[in-house]
Amino acid sequence: MRKLITLLLSTLLLISCDNKSEKEIFINDLLSQMTLDEKIGQMNQYNGFWDATGPMPEGEYQKSRYRDLKNGLVGSMLNVTGVDNVRALQKIAVEETRLGIPLIFAFDVIHGYQTISPIPLAESSSWDLEAIEKSARVAAIEASAAGLNWTFAPMVDISRDARWGRVMEGAGEDPFLGSLIAKARVKGFQGNDLSDYNTIAACAKHFTSYGFAEAGRDYNTADTNEYTLFNTILPPFKAAVDAGVSTFMNSFNTVDEIPATGSSFLQRDILKGEWGFDGFVVSDWGSIGEMIPHGYARDGAHAAEIAANAGSDMDMESSLYIRKLDELVTSGKVDISIVDDAVKRILGVKYDLGLFDDPYKYCNKDREKNVLGSKENQEAVLDIAKKSIVLLKNDDALLPLKKKNQTIALIGQLANDKNSAIGNWRGRGASNSAVSVLEGLNSYKENKVIYTKGVDLYYGETNFFTRVDVNYNDRSGFNRARSVAKSSDVVVMVLGEEGYQTGEGRSRTNLLLPGLQQELLEEIYNVNKNVVLVLVNGRPLNISWADENIPAIVEAWQLGSQAGNAIAQVLYGDYNPSGKLTMSFPRNVGQVPIYYNYKNTGRPSKSQKVVTASAYSDVENSPIYPFGYGLSYTSFNYSDLTLSSEEMNNKQSIIASVTLTNSGKYKGKEVVQLYIRDLHGSLSRPLKELKGFEMLELEPGESKKVDFTIDNSLLKYYTVNKKWESELGDFYVYIGGNSDVDSFKKFELIN
Ligand code: GLC
Repeated sequence: MRKLITLLLSTLLLISCDNKSEKEIFINDLLSQMTLDEKIGQMNQYNGFWDATGPMPEGEYQKSRYRDLKNGLVGSMLNVTGVDNVRALQKIAVEETRLGIPLIFAFDVIHGYQTISPIPLAESSSWDLEAIEKSARVAAIEASAAGLNWTFAPMVDISRDARWGRVMEGAGEDPFLGSLIAKARVKGFQGNDLSDYNTIAACAKHFTSYGFAEAGRDYNTADTNEYTLFNTILPPFKAAVDAGVSTFMNSFNTVDEIPATGSSFLQRDILKGEWGFDGFVVSDWGSIGEMIPHGYARDGAHAAEIAANAGSDMDMESSLYIRKLDELVTSGKVDISIVDDAVKRILGVKYDLGLFDDPYKYCNKDREKNVLGSKENQEAVLDIAKKSIVLLKNDDALLPLKKKNQTIALIGQLANDKNSAIGNWRGRGASNSAVSVLEGLNSYKENKVIYTKGVDLYYGETNFFTRVDVNYNDRSGFNRARSVAKSSDVVVMVLGEEGYQTGEGRSRTNLLLPGLQQELLEEIYNVNKNVVLVLVNGRPLNISWADENIPAIVEAWQLGSQAGNAIAQVLYGDYNPSGKLTMSFPRNVGQVPIYYNYKNTGRPSKSQKVVTASAYSDVENSPIYPFGYGLSYTSFNYSDLTLSSEEMNNKQSIIASVTLTNSGKYKGKEVVQLYIRDLHGSLSRPLKELKGFEMLELEPGESKKVDFTIDNSLLKYYTVNKKWESELGDFYVYIGGNSDVDSFKKFELIN
């Protein structure tokens, strides 16, 4: 009833005011009714604190939070899922508090809610923006059916360091591709209308530089210069703003010595100022309070003061706003206008979601029952899973496997593991719910598959908060594995990482196959050379030995619910692999950080023999597999690279063309990639930068001309003048199937 009066009031006001939107009138009107405590309540986010449909809260901690909820001092809940739980808490907020302001319910729907899609690093390897958007759409349909209206995704952190466990959540090392993927994922989650019942607010995170954690150690200092910040780290965040993302999340780390949560430069100057972002910023879990151990805040009150003034609008789980902000406002350390701005932003997202019109719109039991885990959703995640697989090596066309009269030895604990493929950040994906590789291969009936574990990678159950218990000394399964391999036509070895060996808090100092897997791989190769290595992992690994010895290598990542079916369809050639790496694979961890768009240095190395050049004495500079790399069961040939002109000014454009030919015997897809090198600028420029790509599917023998339009927008970068501009001079244009392409054509940007 209360809201009805409010709405009527605002409608009446609308008639009287001409230039304020209905939303603005509604929010201003509501704000004018709120006490300071109620305003601060909207800036307060609590983690789900009891099973709302079960026993009431126990212990003082739970009871105090329940009281806050009943007193309208909570604006959002995270990790409360399921229609019953959401409805129960929403009912308290809407029907038992003075103003009845609905809660917004958030959850980490990173790669699926119940039907789990490939980890985002895998999805990025598909380079299929439509499929990536579709995957986020499916996740939003399921999450919204479970009562949720906000996801803490997409994670858009660029990273060049596979030691950092959270590379599994991102889109790899390149800002151009990362920006397009950020946009696709925001659109997938938010749809065309945020007020629809099956769209949810997205959240670009972690703002910023989290992927540049020093030494790849999670939560560590991130020191980058302003130019790397603007040219490499910020573009995907800006793309998310341009795509209309509703929220941002700041990050745990310092950026140039200041915790991101307390950075007014990032949150106010850039995000809300220069970019005009009108949504709200939520802190990462406890990051406001963490400014004390950072050595940046004296105490909780000081941390709250810094964060609020710096533009961190909502406090996730440090409880410092709810405990300290009222005194800070009354003492003048935080102006009420700061609070009002934060609250208006938060109310604005709730308004956009339609929560004021119908706070229970996400609470439909029938929809929850019918939507979660549907066949349609399983088919969607199978599609993107197949497209995410990258073929790294296929000597003597060992793949695709013959479909009959073969004895296949399937070896590795991960081959019969229905859990690891779901990866970290698995939403409400049920344990052991993925299709295993064994199940996928067994769906092909005309071969004989003999499975043996060979070795335990890990023991026992795993979860978000525990270290995986890795086996380093039990080789008891080796003999059986050797004999099965010896008596088989081909061996498929599924090795890699347990699902919780990557993700948050999973940094590693080496990138080798964990445990005894490498030893097993070498033992098996000694008894049967026909080995197909299938990697199930969440980061680039050091597979140097495999690259030198194993004839076929498939990077299958952690592919989610349909992993086993996707892998089987690729191994049998029912899907010709089309994925391309979005992170470079290092020869060893000593090369890390390693990435394709590196600077040439003043002493570029052509040979390791030259001591006084930028090289290592023990390995070459190049990665095993570069950014953009991926093979197919067919082969592609590039020819006739041409430019429509050898010069242009900043108002003109040039067409760069190449002819692509399928020179093999299978129909296949190829991601044709355009790279540009700016030979010299007011800053030292990268050797190559991705500036375009196009996916083509060609029949055997078919050729097609591919055109890219190069205009001034592709030549701009954040220059020494601290603005986005192009600079006159020479540019090289490369077009190929990965970033390691050599042939180029030159043009000049002239006045
Ligand atoms: C975590 C993560 C963040 C996540 C949040 C809520 O610590 O850093 O990505 O969204 O807490 O779970």
